Amino acid sequence: MAVEQLNTGLDALMETSFGCYQLQRYPVRKKTTLKAWDAADEYLLDYLYDNELLHRDVSLLIVNDSFGGLSIPLNHYQPVVMTDSYLSMQGISVNLKNNNIDYDAVTIINSLEAPGSVLDGRSDNGLADVVLIKIPKSLAMLEDQLHRVRASLGTSTTIIAGGKTKHIHSSTLELFNKIIGPTTTSLARKKARLIFSKFDADLVVPQNPHPAAYKLDYLLDGEDMEMISHAAVFSREKLDAGTRLFLDNLPADERYKTIVDLGCGNGVLGLVAAIKNPAANMIFTDESYMAVESAIDNFCAVFGETRGAEFLQTDCLYGVTDNSVSLILCNPPFHHNNAMNDDIAWQMFTESRTALEPQGELWVIGNRHLAYHAKLKHLFGNCDVVASDNKFTLLKSIKI
Ligand SMILES: C[S@@+](CC[C@H](N)C(=O)[O-])C[C@H]1O[C@@H](n2cnc3c(N)ncnc32)[C@H](O)[C@@H]1O
Repeated sequence: MAVEQLNTGLDALMETSFGCYQLQRYPVRKKTTLKAWDAADEYLLDYLYDNELLHRDVSLLIVNDSFGGLSIPLNHYQPVVMTDSYLSMQGISVNLKNNNIDYDAVTIINSLEAPGSVLDGRSDNGLADVVLIKIPKSLAMLEDQLHRVRASLGTSTTIIAGGKTKHIHSSTLELFNKIIGPTTTSLARKKARLIFSKFDADLVVPQNPHPAAYKLDYLLDGEDMEMISHAAVFSREKLDAGTRLFLDNLPADERYKTIVDLGCGNGVLGLVAAIKNPAANMIFTDESYMAVESAIDNFCAVFGETRGAEFLQTDCLYGVTDNSVSLILCNPPFHHNNAMNDDIAWQMFTESRTALEPQGELWVIGNRHLAYHAKLKHLFGNCDVVASDNKFTLLKSIKI
C-alpha cells in the first residue's frame, strides 16, 4: 500500500512510560476524532512498566495491536504482532516510519500463522515470555486466537489481555479459563480493564471449533454448497439476510469480463457470480486476512484447478487497475471498531467509480436506513433500485 501517500494527516502524541510517540490511524480520515490508541493500551503499558515485566531479551507477542498503540512504544523489545487486519498492518508500518523506527523492530504475522514459528529463536524454549492480547469484539475471534496462541505459552509466560469494559463479559473470561487457565481481572480504569490468565499445562482444552461451515441452499451439481468461514469472518454461521437478497438477484451477462467481490467476507457473492458468469475474471478483496483465506478455500472447493481468480488482502480496491472492472459487488461494512460510520462505504463507492470501466456497474446491498441511494446518485449521477424487501435494498449505479 502507498505508505508514503498517507504520512500527513491527523496524528497525536502518545505519552507513555516507554517514551512519546506520534501515532495516527490508518487510513487517515480528516473528520475523525478517534485516536490511534485507547485506554486499554495505556493500561497495559502502565502495568508492564510498573511491574517491570519486560527485560532486554524478552520474547514478546502482541495480539490485535490496532495501529501500533502497543508495538510502537514497545519497539525496543522487538515484539511479534499478530493481526487479522490489513489496515492495522499498514497503520503499524506508517507509525514505525513516522517515528523513525526501523521496520525490523516489529515483526507482523497474520492471524492464521502460528506465532511459534516466529518466536522460535527468540527465547531458549521457543515460547513467549509475555503475551499481550487486545480483546477483539468477536468472541469467536478471541476463541480462535487463544487456541492458536496456547502453543506458544509455558508456565513462565505472563499473559495479560486488555479491552474496553463493555467488551469484557463473563463469556470472555470463560474462554480464557477454558483454553488458557485460571483467569482474573483488574479494576476498571478509564472504562478499560485488564485480564490476567495463568497457563495451565494440564488443562484439557476443547478442540478449536473454527473455521465454521454452513450449507448454502444454492445447488451445485444437485447438492447444497458448503461455505466455510474462519473465525473473524462476517456472518460465518449463516448467510446474512442482505447477502441473500443480493444472491437472489445476481446478474449474468457476457459483458461482464471482470467482476470484483469488494469486501468479500467468505466470498459467497463472488463465488455465485463466478458460477453464473463462467467466462469472467474474478477478483476478491477484503482487509481481513481470515476473510480472504475463507474466500480462497470456498472458491477452490467449487472450481478446484479449473479456474483461477485473484485474491487481495487490501484496503478496498487498492491494487485493482483503474477503468478495468465491468461489475463490482458490494455489501459494505457499516460499523468499524464499534463506531457507527459510513466512511468505509463511501471509500468503497468512490474507489469503485475509479476502478470501473465506462458502462461498468456497481451493485450495492444495504440496510434501508443507511441511505446509500443518495450517496450513489451523488457520485455516479444515477442509481436504480434492483430489488428490495422490508429491510434491505439492492442498488445499481452505472459509470457513465
Ligand atoms: C458486511 S461484510 C460483507 C461480506 C460479504 N461480502 C457478504 O456479503 O457476506 C463487509 C466486509 O467488508 C470488509 N471490509 C471492511 N473494511 C474494508 C476495507 N477497508 N477494505 C476491504 N474490505 C473491507 C470486512 O472485512 C467484511 O468482510
